[in-house]
Amino acid sequence: MKSLAEKLVPPAVEKLIPYQSARRIARQTGNTGHLWLNANELESCCQYGDVSEGKNAHYNRYPDFLPHDIAADYQAYCEYQSNIVFSSNLETIAVRGADEAIDLLVRTFCQPGNDQILVCPPTYGMYEFCADAFSVNTAVVPLLDNFQLDLAAIETKLDKTSLVFLCSPNNPTGNVLHQQDLLTLLEASKDKSLVVVDEAYIEFAPHTSVVGLMAEYPHLIVIRTLSKAFGLAAIRVGFMLADSSVMTYVSRLIAPYPIADPSAEIAQKALSPAGIQQMEQQTKSLIEVRDWFSAEISELAIVEKVYASSTNFVLVRFNTQSSMYDYLISQGIVARSPANESSVKGCVRITIGSKASMVETLNALKKCA
Ligand SMILES: Cc1ncc(COP(=O)(O)O)c(C=O)c1O
Repeated sequence: MKSLAEKLVPPAVEKLIPYQSARRIARQTGNTGHLWLNANELESCCQYGDVSEGKNAHYNRYPDFLPHDIAADYQAYCEYQSNIVFSSNLETIAVRGADEAIDLLVRTFCQPGNDQILVCPPTYGMYEFCADAFSVNTAVVPLLDNFQLDLAAIETKLDKTSLVFLCSPNNPTGNVLHQQDLLTLLEASKDKSLVVVDEAYIEFAPHTSVVGLMAEYPHLIVIRTLSKAFGLAAIRVGFMLADSSVMTYVSRLIAPYPIADPSAEIAQKALSPAGIQQMEQQTKSLIEVRDWFSAEISELAIVEKVYASSTNFVLVRFNTQSSMYDYLISQGIVARSPANESSVKGCVRITIGSKASMVETLNALKKCA
């Protein structure tokens, strides 16, 4: 029987033969040798490329075409985080940030001018952006007033939808989607749409991860990143977790050398037991600062509501006539006003920084109150 991924994949991707980079051929054929003259690299390394303390002290060679070490380390981290053992058909790949995973999925499973994705705003803008950039239609089903899924409305659109993009915990609202709703959607979409859950902020609410559901729902894809709780936005490393039936097509489109060696080396350190422990401690401290800041600003007369957050930011609704985003800018504090969604109009999304940064922000808001 055909998998859902096989049913959805456009003909062009179905017959695509992956680009045969030198590293890919070497890995697939298992060919090894003592002279590597297959990739037009320099055999000697330049001084400026000899700066790494990592295992690859030189940068004259192309990286692995799919960096298996960090993918394996990330998989082990997910198993530890969700206290599960991955089934053998579940695969993990490293990508250049969660954003690349979103783009890859749209390009793998949607035919321009023909297929559609579905999003539930207010949510992360890249899903719709990637679809727009690839001439793929976007069906929009706004979140309900409590920022949860409008399941009835989503279900009416599944027949025509290739990919449903969900974000939990959600950006910019900060809340986690109800697990029961996700289960209902996974049941309803089984033979229709692939369901992508973007867990970029999962370290701030690890017990809510849907990774444990992947064995039962092979059409569930999870996106992760090292840019948030791990504090490594600059190295551009994210991950995609999916069933092999999905990954077989995604890996046809992936760039020949997706992760630069320096990034892979830093990612590997972050995913070591010591790195994970450090991340967990940082996350705990950040949550303390977030909850303190939320409680403090809730008391201000200018604040109508601070939405409960399971992330490293808070969404704040002010009751002022003038823009609080502009006011904060005038104080040298750059926050974010969420895109033009009616349900979050006038709200400001404030990233949680150090305690000192949040004290300064609180004082600036107090001045205005
Ligand atoms: C929900 C969500 N997904 C993905 C990303 C992008 O992650 P990355 O830096 O790994 O591309 C962000 C960044 O803000 C985000 O908020």
